[in-house]
Amino acid sequence: MNGDKKWAIVTGGSRGLGFETAKGLIAAGFTVYIISKDEKRLAQSAQTLGCQYRAVDVADNKKLRQVLIEITEEASSKDLGILDVLVLAHGVMSEKMSKTLRTNDDEWRRTLSINLDSVFTAVNQLAPAMTDARKGRVVVYSACLGRMSGPGTHGGLAPYRISKAGVNAFVKNLSYETGLGARGFLVDAICPGHCRTDMGGEDAPRSAEQGADTAIWLATRDFDPTKNKTGLLWEDRQVVDW
Ligand SMILES: NC(=O)c1ccc[n+]([C@@H]2O[C@H](COP(=O)([O-])OP(=O)(O)OC[C@H]3O[C@@H](n4cnc5c(N)ncnc54)[C@H](OP(=O)(O)O)[C@@H]3O)[C@@H](O)[C@H]2O)c1
Repeated sequence: MNGDKKWAIVTGGSRGLGFETAKGLIAAGFTVYIISKDEKRLAQSAQTLGCQYRAVDVADNKKLRQVLIEITEEASSKDLGILDVLVLAHGVMSEKMSKTLRTNDDEWRRTLSINLDSVFTAVNQLAPAMTDARKGRVVVYSACLGRMSGPGTHGGLAPYRISKAGVNAFVKNLSYETGLGARGFLVDAICPGHCRTDMGGEDAPRSAEQGADTAIWLATRDFDPTKNKTGLLWEDRQVVDW
């Protein structure tokens, strides 16, 4: 068994917010596996971070499941035990002009399969062992563009906004299915704010490190089910209504 040694899987770990999240978890003592699509970039990032990696297109749910099984088996052979933390930090923006009445089936499917369907597949594959072990944390990168209130679903970028609204609903629903943290399993979504990454652009106001802070905190925070909550959308370590 893994004793005090904890391990994590971070998707989107090749760059941007996933890379910074993986870096933070490694600094916190986790053994980390990173996942993304472009194998060359991923291998370079894994070398920089000093962690393990597996390349897969998360839109391919069968291959994603297979890769997650392989990682779990490898971790088991290293006596790492049941997965402690899953951070889903991959994602794509939908095309600029993707208003509901202007986009098409291909763009809808591309965005929803990467941003939402893969979240289901990864959690459905990995979380049963965590809940059985009465432990584990899942953190999914969402976005304030997916909120039903505030700056959320106010039109435009329809596939992206709807995929993130789906992520917000997904974590809330799963948290109720798993005892709202009382059974040791936590699941939350975060909005990182507008960050300087390939997706956010170089003029964004926040660094990727600032954007990753809440995900790392959720993955490592002390949790008392009588005082703390899970199944929520967070930004800057605070709950955001969605
Ligand atoms: N940046 C922001 O301002 C901002 C704001 C709100 C929410 N977010 C959310 O935060 C998350 C991370 O964003 P980011 O800014 O770090 O994005 P990014 O810099 O564009 O990086 C995207 C990551 O997702 C991976 N990815 C994309 N499609 C994939 C696929 N089909 N299969 C496997 N991996 C795939 C990429 O892998 P490759 O390197 O292999 O392509 C990369 O690691 C996303 O969910 C995004 O929606 C970002």
